[in-house]
Amino acid sequence: MQIPLFPEQASTISVEVDRLLYFLVAVSVFFTLLIFAAIFYFAIRYRRRSETELPQHVHGGLTLEVVWTVIPFGITMVMFAWGASIFFTESRPPDDAMQIYVVGKQWMWKLQHMEGNREINELHIPINRSVKLTMTSEDVIHSFFVPAFRTKQDVVPGRYTTTWFKATKPGKYHLFCAEYCGTNHSAMIGWVYAMEPEDYQQWLSGAPKGTLSEAGAQLFNDLACVNCHHSDGSGRCPSLVGVYGSTVKLAGGGTVKADEAYIRESILNPTAKVVDGYQPLMPTFQGQVTEEGVVDLIEYIKSLAPKPAEQSNQPRSASPAGLPASNR
Ligand code: CUA
Repeated sequence: MQIPLFPEQASTISVEVDRLLYFLVAVSVFFTLLIFAAIFYFAIRYRRRSETELPQHVHGGLTLEVVWTVIPFGITMVMFAWGASIFFTESRPPDDAMQIYVVGKQWMWKLQHMEGNREINELHIPINRSVKLTMTSEDVIHSFFVPAFRTKQDVVPGRYTTTWFKATKPGKYHLFCAEYCGTNHSAMIGWVYAMEPEDYQQWLSGAPKGTLSEAGAQLFNDLACVNCHHSDGSGRCPSLVGVYGSTVKLAGGGTVKADEAYIRESILNPTAKVVDGYQPLMPTFQGQVTEEGVVDLIEYIKSLAPKPAEQSNQPRSASPAGLPASNR
């Protein structure tokens, strides 16, 4: 169903979100009408008919009270369960989703594709494919909002938030910042281009560039990370081969799952979680590497998997994990 006042339904979840909204509106309209009808009916039915009339005393009505408690309770529980199920769907990206990184800043959206394409205030995506956004901000809280996809997620400095969607219709859709973020908040807008998969592939191959993990490998070298993180584990710092997705033992007990957030934290605040058996030698790279650089490094570290990486849909170029000492 499509109501002209609504934004287009252009993602799989948009249909479900709208259905829930229609239900909420229908319930509200029904009870509004019921209450108004009852007001008028009672006002007329029980009006005072003479100056001396005294109303009858009424003492409780158990049936009535049970009815007006149980029915609204049932309805609100339906709203809760239905809303929660959509929320869970929206918060769990499918495993096969393609990854795109988003960095918000005053006042623009910067988007990075795995293949290396970088965009500002424009996002090109294929239809019929789940797309996972991993997002952070360079300054204040922004919010990534695509009405046609019914997707809105805060973008918060200092951490990664994720969202996902699967576009169903080719087209050009509004992208908004939905969190007041300063003077030019209203100008922090852009477009999402949902494309047929072939067109998307063509668009991807349009610009000459290296992949994110290649850029990360370069940065890994330039920042001299390679001096300590030897790929064979002989360095002063842990080898990063296969670390992504693994469970890391920490000094002082405890473990952590090596996900994007952990790697980001280890780059910007290395002493927060020190790996068991190693000294907290690593300096912070806060201020030396941009959020986009962190993303590149994360993708490079992900590519250092002992088994072939699963996320890539193209053969990767040889990984420069063991850069020779002369490259330092
Ligand atoms: Cu960014 Cu509002």
